[in-house]
Amino acid sequence: MRILRAVAELRQWSREERQNGGKTIGLVPTMGALHAGHASLIRAACAATEAVAVSIFVNPTQFGPNEDFVRYPRSFEADCALAEAEGASVVFAPDVEELYPPGAATFVEVEGLSCRLDGQSRPGHFRGVATVVAKLLIAAEPDRAFFGQKAAAQVAVLRRMTADLRVGTEIVVCPIVREADGLALSSRNVYLSAEQRTQALVLSKAVRQIEALAASGERSARVLIEAARQLFAVERGSSGAGPDLRADYIALVNWATLEPVEMATPGTLFAVAAWVGKTRLIDNTILV
Ligand code: PAJ
Repeated sequence: MRILRAVAELRQWSREERQNGGKTIGLVPTMGALHAGHASLIRAACAATEAVAVSIFVNPTQFGPNEDFVRYPRSFEADCALAEAEGASVVFAPDVEELYPPGAATFVEVEGLSCRLDGQSRPGHFRGVATVVAKLLIAAEPDRAFFGQKAAAQVAVLRRMTADLRVGTEIVVCPIVREADGLALSSRNVYLSAEQRTQALVLSKAVRQIEALAASGERSARVLIEAARQLFAVERGSSGAGPDLRADYIALVNWATLEPVEMATPGTLFAVAAWVGKTRLIDNTILV
C-alpha cells in the first residue's frame, strides 16, 4: 500500500486507476486514530469501489481554539496497517501546508446547517469540515465517499455541500459501530477514565430509550426529549458524576435541514451530545 503526501500524487493515482485501470474510486476521509468504526467504512468502500484511498489528516480548521487539536490521538503506523489490512490501495496523509498553502483564504461555508447541533456548540467546526472535505474531493475525484452515521450532522452538512457545489461524488453513509455494551466507537474514547467510560453509556442508553419509546408509539418531540433529559438526571445521580456529566444538546431534527421537528416521523434524526468530564461525545439514531 502506497502512502501519498501531495495532492498532485493523489490526483494522479486516482486518474491512473480510472483511466488506465478502468476502476471506480472510493475515498474514506478520516483524522486517523483508526478504530473498528473507520475499518467498517474502509470495508464498505472496498466492497463498493475498486480502488480505495483513505485520507488521514487532523484538520486544524475544524477545531476551536480551546479544543483538542494538539492532543488529538495520533497513531499513524497502526492506522496504515489497519487501512492496508482492510484493503485500501493508498493512504493520503498530507501535512497542513499541503492542504492549506501559505496565504490560504478560501473556505466552504454551508449556511444555516453549519450553525445547528454540533455547529452551535462548536462555532466554525462545520466550516472547517466542509472546507477540508471539499479539498479532498477535488483532489481525489472519487466516485463515492464514505462517511459514518456516527457524525450525523456532519453528513447533513456534506450532503448539502456536495449537492450545492454539484460535486459528482456520491456520499455513502455507513451504520454506527458500537462496543458490546452500546458505546459508539470514537477516537476520543481514549480520553475517558474507567469511571467516565461507564458514565459515557448514558448516550447510547438515551438512543435506545428514544428508539423504544418511538417504537411504542410516542411521537412527540417534547416528550421524547424530556425522557432523555430525565435519563441524564438519573445517571448523573446514580453514577456519582454530578456536574461532570451534562448534555450539550438533545434534539429531534429533520436529518436534511437539522431543523427541530415537533413530531418524530420515519427518518427523523434523534441526536445527543454530552460532556463526560472534559470529553465531548456524540451519538444518534434515525427513527423508523
Ligand atoms: P473522524 O472522526 O476520524 O471520522 C472519520 C469517519 O469515521 C467519519 O465519517 C465518522 O462518521 C466515521 N466514524 C467515526 N466513528 C464511527 C463509528 N463508531 N461507526 C461508524 N463510523 C464512524 O469525521 C471526521 O473524522 C472528520 O470530520 C473528517 C470527515 C475526516 C474531516 O476532517
